Amino acid sequence: MSTDEFPTDRPAVVTCGLPYANGDLHIGHLRGYIGADAFDRALRTLGQQSAYVCGSDMHGTPVAVNAEKEGVEPEEFALRWHEQYEETFPRFNVEFDNYGHTHDEANTETTTEIVRTLDEEGYIYEKEIQVAYDPEADQYLPDRYVEGTCPYCGAKARGDECDEGCQRHLEPGEVEDPRSSITGNPAEYRERAHKFFRVSAFEEFLTDFLDDLEGTSNARNQPRQWIEEGLQDWCITRDMDWGIDYPGEADDDLVLYVWVDAPIEYISSTKQYTDRVGDETYDWEQVWKGEGDIVHVIGRDIIQHHTIFWPAMLEGAGYNTPRAVAATGFITINGKGLSTSRNRAIWATEYLEEGFHPDLLRYYLMTTGGLQQDVDFSWDAFQETVNGDLVGVVGNFWYRSLLFAYRNYEGTPEVDVSSDVESRINGALEQFREAVNDYSLRGVGAAATDLARFGNEYIQRNEPWKLTDDDPEEAAQVIRDCVQIAKAVGVLLDPIAPDKAQALWDQIGEDGDVADATLEDALESPPRSFDEPGELFAKIEDDRVAELNEKLEQRVAEAADDEDDETESDDTDADEREDVTATDDLEPLLEDRISFEQFQELDIRVGRIEEAEGIEGADDLARLEVDIGLESRQVVAGIKQLHDLEELPGTKVILLANMEPAELFGVESNGMILAAGEEADLLTTHDDADLGEKIK
Ligand code: MF3
Ligand code: ZN
Repeated sequence: MSTDEFPTDRPAVVTCGLPYANGDLHIGHLRGYIGADAFDRALRTLGQQSAYVCGSDMHGTPVAVNAEKEGVEPEEFALRWHEQYEETFPRFNVEFDNYGHTHDEANTETTTEIVRTLDEEGYIYEKEIQVAYDPEADQYLPDRYVEGTCPYCGAKARGDECDEGCQRHLEPGEVEDPRSSITGNPAEYRERAHKFFRVSAFEEFLTDFLDDLEGTSNARNQPRQWIEEGLQDWCITRDMDWGIDYPGEADDDLVLYVWVDAPIEYISSTKQYTDRVGDETYDWEQVWKGEGDIVHVIGRDIIQHHTIFWPAMLEGAGYNTPRAVAATGFITINGKGLSTSRNRAIWATEYLEEGFHPDLLRYYLMTTGGLQQDVDFSWDAFQETVNGDLVGVVGNFWYRSLLFAYRNYEGTPEVDVSSDVESRINGALEQFREAVNDYSLRGVGAAATDLARFGNEYIQRNEPWKLTDDDPEEAAQVIRDCVQIAKAVGVLLDPIAPDKAQALWDQIGEDGDVADATLEDALESPPRSFDEPGELFAKIEDDRVAELNEKLEQRVAEAADDEDDETESDDTDADEREDVTATDDLEPLLEDRISFEQFQELDIRVGRIEEAEGIEGADDLARLEVDIGLESRQVVAGIKQLHDLEELPGTKVILLANMEPAELFGVESNGMILAAGEEADLLTTHDDADLGEKIK
């Protein structure tokens, strides 16, 4: 796959992980769908041809189990959710070029074709395996019908995924201490013939594939580790009747594993788009089989499916493999894990019913933290971002410059943009282009906001209101510049806040859609005249936030009460992680106390990471160079998988300096950085303590 910068002259397809059609959408889902939507829009702004496709994930136990709970047939159940998703996404300005579902004919056809090809190419074989069975319920127990312990990390796991621990895919039979989720009984095993996909044959291919893969670094690092551990073949059939039949088998109760037909929907959905618009407009085959740029935006819990199984399937069946996999972090709410069962979530419909504009949430989710980081949502932080960046910076700049232009010139003053301002705008366009190529939506947002911030300073510095009488030419120049900046901010903000950007576009008298504008248009003169502008963003007041906080707290408390009566845990989807602060997960406090003198023996210092790199051959270890004021220390830390190493330099950390030196994988470690919990959340300082200062 070529690594030419965007825009390329190839068509792109942007996808996001298909939502299981099994429950209400919440902010955890929205982050991914908005992220991919914004990326697709940003590519178009660069002038790249792009399509954004997705669909509902209808099959598998995530749907079957929930349908069963409601006593409804899976098809009816899934279609109902599918229809709801189709309606909800556009309300967040998530606009798919095609939104299909995995149970439609198009996907059944593509899936059958791909599985047949893999079989013909010798990548599929049959093997007898032991399959979990519940004699009381008298049924096999695929995937979510079984619960137990992850053999890799010891976390509580479902039959096919370690969703609360190491995020690995688990093969049938792998989970330890398996119990039936239907009856709670220990599972029994029965021998059954199943189909396997020879993933092991793709080891070399996948190693090279990962070397070229763009996107977020976690989507390269984790799979590298899995390859090092040795690739296992992948069981691709299940004992169920809900799903796509294994091609050509008479056995009615054997269907394809949901993870086979789900990603294939990326292709089927692109095909449906071409069927609608014609291949002169967009050619699915060029993207998937000729020359195209495939970009997958996913949650970080499904990296393995997108960087191991999926590219192996594509390669084996003669399709193109992805250029990029961008894996987003999780969403937390007020610092605690999003939990649908505890009702600690912001639901999609709830957000809209509160009357907030979707672009506000889009901006918040896209610009708070990088794509790969976990993002915390709180109504307070939301208010701060909206009132700060959108009201205070962008909205303020737009309104004051356009109002001034309207009142004094009835539109855009008739002079050329100054060369200084033109080059500042060019700088912002470059910033945008780089951000897209770095898969940084935060950078995309910053390109717009930074330019608006510059605009505010520019108008403030030049005080055109003082110039209108004394130096009318200069006043006209300043306002002319501001109108151009305002227009450019509109072009740059469109991927993240499309409605607001369009409203600005209309205000400056442009006709047509800002979505069709490319970076070059940002420097084209706006129309000569426009009407009186209005304010595009409104401040969120404190009492509104207090009210929202109260509602949320109350809801969580009510859910906690309900949970006491109900032991069943909800298992809706992938975008949530259970509350990490739940007291039953915490290590008990130590009984033994230490003296102050003992504490003083710990020489703990403020430091700053200067370099961070993975240690070859070690799965989890990174080598850090930490500046502690008095000297620099080389430290080995077990954070390779948990942090984006490229983003660490510059981070302030706390280092235990008199830890005895140790050697790990041949690298000397001379100190220990402090971190909290399983995710190695790095400790830092909250103010500006100098490097080398002692912690006391
Ligand atoms: N439905 C899956 C989940 O929520 C994601 C499927 S993504 C695809 O985890 F690649 F299979 F399409
Ligand atoms: Zn695990």
